[in-house]
Amino acid sequence: MKKRGEYLLNNYSRFEESFVYGEGAILYSEDRKDYIDFGSGIGVSSVGHGSKGLSRAIFDQASNLIHTSNLYHIKNQEELAEKLSNLAGFKLYSFFANSGAEANESAIKLARKYGSRGSTKRWKIITLDNSFHGRTYGSLSATAQSSFHKGFEPILDGFVYAKTLNDIQNIIDNDNEIVAVLIELVRGEGGVQALDINEVQTLAKLLKSRDILLMVDEVQSGVFRTGKFLASNLYGIEPDVITLAKGLAGGIPIGAMLTKIPDAFVPGDHGSTFGGNPFSTAASLKTLEILLDEYKSGRLAKRIDFFNSKLDELVREYPHVFKSISGIGLMRGLPLDSKIDLMSIVKSANNERVLTLKSGNNTLRLLPPLTISEKEIETGFQRLSQAIALLNIC
Ligand SMILES: Cc1ncc(COP(=O)(O)O)c(C=O)c1O
Repeated sequence: MKKRGEYLLNNYSRFEESFVYGEGAILYSEDRKDYIDFGSGIGVSSVGHGSKGLSRAIFDQASNLIHTSNLYHIKNQEELAEKLSNLAGFKLYSFFANSGAEANESAIKLARKYGSRGSTKRWKIITLDNSFHGRTYGSLSATAQSSFHKGFEPILDGFVYAKTLNDIQNIIDNDNEIVAVLIELVRGEGGVQALDINEVQTLAKLLKSRDILLMVDEVQSGVFRTGKFLASNLYGIEPDVITLAKGLAGGIPIGAMLTKIPDAFVPGDHGSTFGGNPFSTAASLKTLEILLDEYKSGRLAKRIDFFNSKLDELVREYPHVFKSISGIGLMRGLPLDSKIDLMSIVKSANNERVLTLKSGNNTLRLLPPLTISEKEIETGFQRLSQAIALLNIC
């Protein structure tokens, strides 16, 4: 018998399931079983599966024009940039790429370019322990988790890893080559831990006073995932650079680097063949229209409350399994008791037909579609509870 994926490079460990179609927050497997999707394809399917609005917009755009390259003006891209700036609530200039890693790569290049301007060349970027910024060499080097670097050394020079936000002052006091700090406000792959709001605001003021760029990786936390358009909005900060991807176009590949600095790049400094083409930007405009409607109508806030009340119930039901709830909005983590094997929960949940994610080594992560219904939430939590009960953890 032919081995499944025989011709694929072996860089993923995959579950047995494979899906053929979806509706809302439900995915249907090849054998037509229904799964509640509490993972959104790692935070991507923000408007759920099979959205009529999004698929119509994609179809219409594909029928008219898919690609032209950035040699020419692209109306959707211009509209999208304006919309992102309006949604953020402060003036931002956009560069479009195709993924989170590429968005971060462009932020890293922007920081180095910015640092090359003064009389003292500044080129180093501080990132936080346990962060995750992507798999390209720049974003991988920014990722302060040595497990991701293993086998790929030497990584790029110029990244300084800070243990906590409070360490940053000390680092910049002793290194005049620091040009930027890149952080996730909620560490997606590093345990879904949200940074402290006061510490973040203090950091933002400190960096501003030293002309050091504050760059926030909102690849996972952005686009309404935390209940506001940006986690930065919740934290009351206006970073110099913000990166987005994942949920930005509901599953069509796109990444964006947004900056307050109008002259950050000049023509020729950076680019992308596909980035921001008419197709992906049409998908993003529609996705944002759908999500903005959910937000303005109050449905998103209601859904977040309902989801989190069910999450509370689950944690109360299994206090010996879950230590607490972390994260914000619909970006949630459940840190596990140290005796519990994380993958056994994820696998049991798969068997009970609810898809979950892991974050780090001991946190169960939930990133449901932002349009998930109450019924889907209820069914998902019933299945998750059953999945844990079946493990017979005492
Ligand atoms: C915070 C953060 N930054 C960057 C990335 C990389 O994004 P991509 O996989 O689209 O390159 C991810 C992906 O998980 C992420 O969570």
